Amino acid sequence: MENNKVEFFKHCLEDGDIQLANEVMQSIFLTTGPRVAEFEKKFSEYLNINEAVGLTSCTGAIHLALLRYGIGTDDEVITTPMTFAATAAAILQSGAKPVFVDVCPECGMILPETVETAITEKTKAIVPVHLFGRMVDMPGFSKLAKKYNLVLIEDAAHCIEGMRYGIRPGQLSEAACFSFYATKNMTCGEGGALVCNHVEDAEWYRSARHHGISKNASYRYAKKYEHWDMEMMGWKYNMYDIQAALLINQIDRLEQNLQKRHNLEVLYRELLSDIEGLDFLQFPDDNEKSGHHLFTVLLPMRCERDEIILELQNKGIGCAVNYRSIHTLSFFRDTYGYKKTDFPVSYEIGQRTLTLPLYPKLTEDEVKRVSESLHSVIDRD
Ligand SMILES: Cc1ncc(COP(=O)(O)O)c(C=O)c1O
Repeated sequence: MENNKVEFFKHCLEDGDIQLANEVMQSIFLTTGPRVAEFEKKFSEYLNINEAVGLTSCTGAIHLALLRYGIGTDDEVITTPMTFAATAAAILQSGAKPVFVDVCPECGMILPETVETAITEKTKAIVPVHLFGRMVDMPGFSKLAKKYNLVLIEDAAHCIEGMRYGIRPGQLSEAACFSFYATKNMTCGEGGALVCNHVEDAEWYRSARHHGISKNASYRYAKKYEHWDMEMMGWKYNMYDIQAALLINQIDRLEQNLQKRHNLEVLYRELLSDIEGLDFLQFPDDNEKSGHHLFTVLLPMRCERDEIILELQNKGIGCAVNYRSIHTLSFFRDTYGYKKTDFPVSYEIGQRTLTLPLYPKLTEDEVKRVSESLHSVIDRD
C-alpha cells in the first residue's frame, strides 16, 4: 500500500462551522432551536422555495412525506432500483410497496414514459431519484403525476445544487428530500431536510418530526410553563442545533464547491476517455446544472469490477460502488421474488459501476493518479 492514500471522500467542514457548533455546545440549548430555524430559513432561500424542515435524515424525510399524503398499506410507490437502499426503505416504512421500473441506459435514472407503464390502480406516488447530482425530468414527472393524480416526492439526496429546464428540487413536487450524511455535498455527519411550498405542510412536518406534540423544547424553554399535548402520531426525526450549526455556513460554499467538482469530473472524463470499453453516464446538457455529487464509470465488460476495486485499494485509491441495483439485494429478492433480469439496464449498471473520489479537496494531481491507477489495473494484461 502506498503511503499517500487518495481518500474516497474528505468533508469540507471549516473552522467557522466548527466554531458555530462549539457555540451551540457551550450554550444551554442543544436540541432543536434557533440554529435549526436559521438553517431552515437559509436553506429554503438557497433553493428558492417557501419552506424547509430540518430532520435527522433523508430517509426520514421521504417517510414523512409519504405519510403526509396518507400513503401506506396496500399502496404502491414507483421508484428506481438504481439508488441507495434508503429510498425503498422509506417507502417500506410507510407500509407501501416499492415498485421498481428500469432506468434509462444513458442517464441511469427513471423516465416518465417508463414509469407510466407501471402505474396501476394501487399506485399512489412516484419517488424519482436525482442520481449522482443530475436531475430527473421533473416537468415530465409533474405532468404524469397530475394526469394520474399521484403524489410526487423527490429523493434529492444527491442534488442540492441541481437545476434542469430551469427547475430546482422541490419546485414541482409535493416535497424534495435531502441528506446531510457524512459523504454528501453538505454534511453534518448525519442529517436531512425536506422542502415544500406550503406553510401548513411545513407545520405538519415540524409536528410529525417530534412525536406530534404541540410545543417543542425550544418553545417550552423560552416561555412560561404550559402543558403540551400530543395532537397526532409522530416520529423522532428532529434535526438539532449542533447539526444545524455545522450546516448553516456550508450553504454559502455550495456553489464554489460544485464548480470544483465539476472541473474535476471534466478532467476525469478527459483522462479516462481512451480506455477501451469504459463508458460514462451522460454528462449534463449545457442548459442543465448537475450537483456533480458522485463520479462513476462503467467498467469495460471484460473487467471483474470487484477485483478492480481491490487492486485500486491496494494502490491506495479509495473507491465505492453506487449502486448494485437494489432489486438484487436479499430483502427485495426474498420479499418480492425479483430476479436479476427484471430490470436489465439497472442490473448492468450495477454490475459495471465504480465510483471514483470526487470532492472539493481532491487535487488535479490526485485525479491524475486515480486515472493512471485505473488505466494500469484495467490494462494490466
Ligand atoms: C439516493 C439516496 N437516497 C437516500 C439516502 C438516505 O439518506 P440518509 O442517510 O440521510 O437517510 C441516500 C444516502 O446515502 C442516498 O444516497
